[in-house]
Amino acid sequence: MLERDQWKSRVGFLLAVIGSAIGLGNIWRFPYLAYRNGGGAFLIPYIIALFSVGIPLMIMEQGIGHALRGSAPLAFARIRRRWELLGWWIVTFVTFGILLYYTVVLGWCANYLAYSFTLKWGANTQNFFEHTFLGLSKGPFYIEGFHLVVLVGVAAIWFINWFIIYRGISKGIELANKVMMPLLFLITVALAAWSASLPGAMVGIRAYFHPNFEVLKTPSVWIDAFGQVFFTLSLGMGIMIAYASYLPARTEIKRNSLIICLANCAFGILAGFGVFATLGFMSVKAGLPFDKVASGGPGLAFVTYPQIINQLPFGRTAFAVLFFMSLIFAGITSSISILEAFISGLIDKFGSSRKKATTVTCVIGFALSLIFATHAGLYWVDIVDHFLNRYALLVGGLLETVLIAWIYRSSRLRGHINAVGDHKLGIWWQYLVIIWVPLVLISLLTASIYGSVRSPFGGYEWNVLAYIGFGWILATLIIAYVFTRLNWKRVVDDK
Ligand code: PHE
Repeated sequence: MLERDQWKSRVGFLLAVIGSAIGLGNIWRFPYLAYRNGGGAFLIPYIIALFSVGIPLMIMEQGIGHALRGSAPLAFARIRRRWELLGWWIVTFVTFGILLYYTVVLGWCANYLAYSFTLKWGANTQNFFEHTFLGLSKGPFYIEGFHLVVLVGVAAIWFINWFIIYRGISKGIELANKVMMPLLFLITVALAAWSASLPGAMVGIRAYFHPNFEVLKTPSVWIDAFGQVFFTLSLGMGIMIAYASYLPARTEIKRNSLIICLANCAFGILAGFGVFATLGFMSVKAGLPFDKVASGGPGLAFVTYPQIINQLPFGRTAFAVLFFMSLIFAGITSSISILEAFISGLIDKFGSSRKKATTVTCVIGFALSLIFATHAGLYWVDIVDHFLNRYALLVGGLLETVLIAWIYRSSRLRGHINAVGDHKLGIWWQYLVIIWVPLVLISLLTASIYGSVRSPFGGYEWNVLAYIGFGWILATLIIAYVFTRLNWKRVVDDK
């Protein structure tokens, strides 16, 4: 049997997993969610979600990847042959879904990094982003081709991803994270300190942390907290399963998971400190009430930040370069983890060489990601992101938990985790993954469905949502089915 590639060091593994967890979501989603949902008080539901769902699932995914030594398709096939489909579906919708628009957004960041040198976005940053840069069309079905610059940015991002994965686990993924993660951390600290020194920074920081405990009575605050924990830790995506399959025989799964989850949370808080200090500066400078300037998502990065950068007293280019670099580093260390989850599946099942599997996947992925790079791209990002995060991810996570905790059995997995590590996992973990986690996931799903039925997402028409959103999910299911039906080039039960 082929020797499985391995991480060179524990630190390298930890950085790679933390690199996957820390992504655009920590910079432009977490701070804004916290601000909208009670500021400092949001930490209460967030930490409850982190400890009751995030960490237990992190332990579960890493445990199964380590125990069964395989990517999600292989590991699930080893539990029950029929469940291989779930493994393929998860890695397929993440790669041919989330990754496709994630790379396009990173491509925009690459373009904006280049624009930073001349502050090319000019005074009207919204007009520049939507019209000059993207050439946004009237609606999702007005595709109308794309701008060449956008295409070049996306191609560059795919090339970097291809290059890293092509080199394998220790020489590619591990090395890339060992370089990018410390840099990301330094840049984030520098930006936070710089932002805190700007006039008005305190207005933003106070608004960010100001605790409003009243909001804890609102269910949507809790839904946001649990949903964010799930997304930000890259759970339910087959990523942790694949990454853990490259661990050495003796491993501290419990201790590692704890470090990873806390580091991810700490980074989100730190990034928010910088973002909100910057927003505070803007609100004071423009004389606008703070809630008029607070924002998240692409709008924050490509409209608000450029606008703020225009007004900095000095070092505009430097600030812009650091900001877009931080997004790119945070994003690339996440995108390679998605790719690896899928490519390790191809290697496991078809015995293909890493190089071939990587090249084929990246070429197809690049071609498909172009839909998000067209003039209608921003709409597609919006819709596909919503459907995959609100439905596919939760359904996948729920089924995966049932498979591992109920069918494989959590007691057996705990036995494995405790046999290979010194820090013992208590029985509490079993209760959480058997009962609590499925209950939480079902509640989140119900809330999503209820929300969508009450009012169609984002003001789009129903048929648009149905074609693009459900169409996308259906397509990934078909691809996963085809992969499942093809023959294994190896003995599945042989570890
Ligand atoms: N966890 C990353 C974030 O918070 C995003 C991510 C999504 C990573 C999907 C991998 C897969 O931004």
